[in-house]
Amino acid sequence: MYVGKNVPHDSARGHVTGESVYVDDIPHLANELQVGYWWSPVARGRIRALDLAAAAMIPGVVALYTFEDIEGGNIFGPIFQDEPLLAPGEVSYIGQPVVVIAAETREAVDAARKAIVADIERLTPILTIDDAVAAQSFIGTRRTISRGNAEAAIAAAPHVVEGVFRSGGQDQFYLESQAAIAMPDEHGAITVHSSTQNPTEVQDVIAHVLGLSQSEVVVVAKRMGGGFGGKECQATHPATIAALVAQKTRRPARIAFTKDEDMIVTGHRHPFQNRYRVGFDDSGHILGMQVDFYSDGGAFADLSTAIMARAMCHAENAYYIHDIEINGTVCRTNSAPNTAMRGFGGPQGVATMENMVEEIAVTLGRDPFEIRRLNCYGTTDRNVTPYGAVVENNTLPRIFDELVASSDYVRRRDEVLRFNRESKTRLRGIALTPVKFGISFNTTFLNQANALVNIYRDGSVQVSTGATEMGQGVNTKIAQLVADELGVELSAVRLMITSTEKNNNTSATAASTGSDINGAAAIDACRRLRARLADCAARLLVEGEADPSPSPESIVVREGVVFDSRRPAKTMTFGDLAHAAHRHRVSLGERGYYATPLIHWDIEKFSGRPFLYYTIGAAVSEVEIDRFTGMMRVLRSDLLMDIGRSINPGIDRGQITGAFVQGMGWCTTEELRYADDGELLTHSPTTYKIPNIQDLPEIFSVAWIDNDTNTANVKGSKAVGEPPLLLGISVWAAAKQALLSVAAGRGVPLGLPATIEEIAVQLATIESV
Ligand code: MTE
Ligand code: HPA
Ligand code: MOS
Repeated sequence: MYVGKNVPHDSARGHVTGESVYVDDIPHLANELQVGYWWSPVARGRIRALDLAAAAMIPGVVALYTFEDIEGGNIFGPIFQDEPLLAPGEVSYIGQPVVVIAAETREAVDAARKAIVADIERLTPILTIDDAVAAQSFIGTRRTISRGNAEAAIAAAPHVVEGVFRSGGQDQFYLESQAAIAMPDEHGAITVHSSTQNPTEVQDVIAHVLGLSQSEVVVVAKRMGGGFGGKECQATHPATIAALVAQKTRRPARIAFTKDEDMIVTGHRHPFQNRYRVGFDDSGHILGMQVDFYSDGGAFADLSTAIMARAMCHAENAYYIHDIEINGTVCRTNSAPNTAMRGFGGPQGVATMENMVEEIAVTLGRDPFEIRRLNCYGTTDRNVTPYGAVVENNTLPRIFDELVASSDYVRRRDEVLRFNRESKTRLRGIALTPVKFGISFNTTFLNQANALVNIYRDGSVQVSTGATEMGQGVNTKIAQLVADELGVELSAVRLMITSTEKNNNTSATAASTGSDINGAAAIDACRRLRARLADCAARLLVEGEADPSPSPESIVVREGVVFDSRRPAKTMTFGDLAHAAHRHRVSLGERGYYATPLIHWDIEKFSGRPFLYYTIGAAVSEVEIDRFTGMMRVLRSDLLMDIGRSINPGIDRGQITGAFVQGMGWCTTEELRYADDGELLTHSPTTYKIPNIQDLPEIFSVAWIDNDTNTANVKGSKAVGEPPLLLGISVWAAAKQALLSVAAGRGVPLGLPATIEEIAVQLATIESV
């Protein structure tokens, strides 16, 4: 049996040897065109005139297209349809596609890009959340989750803290930039290879823009070199642009962004600016809380409203707060449309809550952990979220208690306080922060999946699902599930390239649900195959026996060996069984389907049960800051999670480790800086600082508890892709603790990311008081 085992990631060898093929590794096709585009150099403006004559004259340039050349619809979008593929006269952000360039070489594309001349009337852009609020420039309407009477509870509370908490954006920083190759088929149809988390959406948008039916478009996605949410929606743009060229020229067309291009033209994690008020008593009990979330959605809606909804559903994080009001507004600005990024709004909501806890603690002169433990969701009562869902099988209190013990938190906090009293040059801080991350797409209909399982006559198996492999190991996990369910050896199971031709109407591989829903759909197919094969095996295995009554219930199929448990000595191989079944005209292919049960969500009232279950965890991080430079190191991080029964401990360890480090990057070093005109200045690894190996915690422990209670999900597992990212917030909270230790009871308005520069500024402010 393979579920629960440390089976290597299916790409482990391929990635290291270079055998793994990414979209832009596909060898160039005869007659292939290279594609790029000229994008808006201004954040907001009106194109008065566009002169393409010089660009068209460049040797090798084959075609130039603007919005006027689009035969289908130019406007698309996953929730609201408000986004043009090619700017129709008005431009709304720097990086917005205006002119598509198709040429024989990439050099010719670049030369043409430089030769395009535009006369653009510059309009005043909206570049900040404050600007957007002043201009009432919003996407969708303000939404509210409310329970009890927050206003009255805060008014009656003995203590109140209020303020504004800001968190910055984050680039997804996948190593493989966005890429696509479009190939014209017969009769106007088209096949597109895309580096996408969402082949179905790419298919939809291409069909729409090209004026084709969905059945005329096939989108294929073998793997990504990382997606991290950035390819959930925004792989559509390059893929559709390549498809447009293929349709017009009847030639294959390839597009692949450079890193700089990718960082400029695609959206990032949403910056948030949140106003909060929280009332509490002397013991630190939270009595009432009001938050007003504002996110920077960028120029077009993309997934912004769903991301805001997830932020709102994580606004209370791990704490039971009876009287609560959570408001959320998405701002429309003139930056690239912000989009999904690991955590999908959850981190922005949770960081705001954890900042409040820190402020409550400093007001009362208490250890923030005490505030966290006191307000933590209960196991039998105090376990209903503001939106009305019950936190079932709540392991938060257990994790808090076990982690405090295993990380030696109490002793180390005393030690940190002593260190800060004695050291003149350095400061330390330690903090424990929890996460309770809702698993399911918060758009209910997306929680469905289908799978195709084909058994061949030699007993080998091909599995196709809508899941896309981006490094998270979904293919390996599904292979393990299928191998156990059919009773074959793992080496007999092959996960096939993801294609809309085999799996229709799929959801993005996102919301951490990839293995949950696609694995469950594959199991559904396997169950029916197994029943048919058990019938067949029962008949075959009684042939020549004294008691010839076949008994499918007593057939055992395990790791490729088939026998009747009444006579275990007589066996056959799975391959022989498959071969015989085919001779007996038993169908060896099956399609499976899964729709996540129990969930429902009232999109008007913002209440219901949007998530099947929660993945839970906590981390203790300790940091040390240089008082002169603001330089920060993470001395130690201890993570403890509840991931149910792990399908693959090695992969899950990798996911937890990677997500934590990515979260730490968001909280500390990763900063998107813009010029005054809205131009992104930090569009390469030289100016945008992701964590590297030296930035890892010097002592780093990743662990999870045994928990068999999550029977709701496949094999008792829990999703692991995004939740640990939010544990990176413990590093930020530790930094805030370090600064508070010298702030003499005053607050420290530390936002996020807590960069070295930001910490230095805060230290200077503290010392000048
Ligand atoms: N891990 C790797 N190596 N690369 C990625 O791009 N994306 C993350 C997470 N882990 C990602 C990753 C995000 S944003 C999500 S939603 C999940 O993987 C998606 O995959 P899953 O649902 O199969 O966990
Ligand atoms: N996560 C990721 N993508 C989504 C979600 C979500 O919760 N909801 C809609 N699209
Ligand atoms: Mo992940 S942000 O849901 O792709």
